[in-house]
Amino acid sequence: MKIVHVASELFPYVKTGGLADAVGSLATTLAGRGHEVAVFLPGYRAVLEHPEATKAERRLRLRIEMGDRYFTGEVWAFSPRKNLTIYLICRDELFDRRGLYGNGERDYEDNFHRFLYFQKGVIEALRLLGLNADVVHCHDWQTGLLPLLLRYTERRQGMTLAVTTVFTIHNIAFQGLFPMRSYHRTNLPDEFKGIEGVEFYGQLSMMKGGLIYADRITTVSPHYAQEIQTPLFGCGLEGVVASRAEDLSGLINGIDTDVWNPAKDRLIPARYSVTDLSGKAKCRAELLSVMKLAATDDTPIYGMVCRLAEQKGIDLLLANQDFFLRENVRLLVLGSGEKRYENALQSLVTAAPDKIALATRLDEKMSHWIEAGSDFFVMPSLFEPCGLNQMYSQAYGTVPLTSRVGGLSDTVIDADQAPAAGTGLTYPATAAGLRDALQRSQKLFADRARYAEVQRRGMERDFSWATAAQGYQRLYEGSL
Ligand code: ADP
Ligand code: GLC
Repeated sequence: MKIVHVASELFPYVKTGGLADAVGSLATTLAGRGHEVAVFLPGYRAVLEHPEATKAERRLRLRIEMGDRYFTGEVWAFSPRKNLTIYLICRDELFDRRGLYGNGERDYEDNFHRFLYFQKGVIEALRLLGLNADVVHCHDWQTGLLPLLLRYTERRQGMTLAVTTVFTIHNIAFQGLFPMRSYHRTNLPDEFKGIEGVEFYGQLSMMKGGLIYADRITTVSPHYAQEIQTPLFGCGLEGVVASRAEDLSGLINGIDTDVWNPAKDRLIPARYSVTDLSGKAKCRAELLSVMKLAATDDTPIYGMVCRLAEQKGIDLLLANQDFFLRENVRLLVLGSGEKRYENALQSLVTAAPDKIALATRLDEKMSHWIEAGSDFFVMPSLFEPCGLNQMYSQAYGTVPLTSRVGGLSDTVIDADQAPAAGTGLTYPATAAGLRDALQRSQKLFADRARYAEVQRRGMERDFSWATAAQGYQRLYEGSL
């Protein structure tokens, strides 16, 4: 099949979160299965500076209608592997910036213009390149208007650009809401403007566009597919999602087993596998040393790697700070994001510098070290569409402590509730729930044989994209 993905992030070129990992692995896996895969990405500075992208060649010049003006641009392309082409929609004024969505303080003020330009650029490229896609698969709000723009272009020009359009929700909390006065830049007729169309409480919602106009909708876990049809998790779009329930599938992400595999991982100090965990002990020792902490073998190490955002349950962690300050445990956090959380975590380090360590930066290598060197991985998310780190943790023999939401519910089995099948500890997403799990984890760690069993079962699970991509293939073929 000819499969076109459109996304605003793609590992290994540009990443702020799991979206990049998910799109990167899905595209690579589909290409590996013999499909002809293209991925469209904004020509961000970070991508253009990536060593592989220096091979890119200019394929097209663009002239994009945005309201009553035209904006020029270019499409550059390179092919990192067989069957896979990355297309970059370039216009330096819009994408040659340090950040993807903002400057760290605030979102860029022209984000509507930037991502509308990107989506229109993709459609123009599909048309000019004559790609004749079987599927155009759009990811998250930055691509939400694309299914509508694509069908409208086809209608107006009497041509077919794609047989099927798919829209995947990676996180419904980010919706791409903009003032409705920008609508004219879409050059769409007013029939799509109202409450039956892209309007969301007087604003223009890019995500709502995807939810209404894509042929098929997916999200990244079965649990989240149910949750977003309820007010608690739907962020106001629950009614719209529920109205498309027939066309909605929850497909769990996989993990890239070339990148996240302790037997092959070159970013960690030693390699290991389920049959020989000695390398994990070395990773643990080196992790403690780089973090400037000391701990004996029976002192549990709790690791955490995440965006420092409310979603990730940092408040629940902070509500349990006395556990980390008083108990004989260690806590290592790698995360960047909201200043209030960075400051609160920094205060914890100041209170117990011999027990708690914090790194507030994006650090791919350190994220692998924490997965490899910790005994437990803490993930108390308030909501979690899929979540990747709980799967990485299981693959690395690091027992996850996950709240029972979204994809975490689909991928971690509680070892106290299911002693013969458990791979982690799960709890309601509350401070008390996390407290209970932390206490249970101490007991689990003290029982070395039981801990080793839980660890082994996690390592033996198959979270590979080879399995995960089958669902998408069936969806594309129309048999899901
Ligand atoms: P989300 O996409 O909501 O942030 P996921 O669990 O799907 O959550 O994916 C997060 C990804 O980002 C993981 O690959 C994780 O290792 C990575 N990550 C998060 N914070 C950092 C950081 N500070 N440094 C390196 N990688 C990070
Ligand atoms: C989003 C979600 C996360 C998910 C990722 C990849 O960023 O927050 O749960 O794993 O997308 O689908």
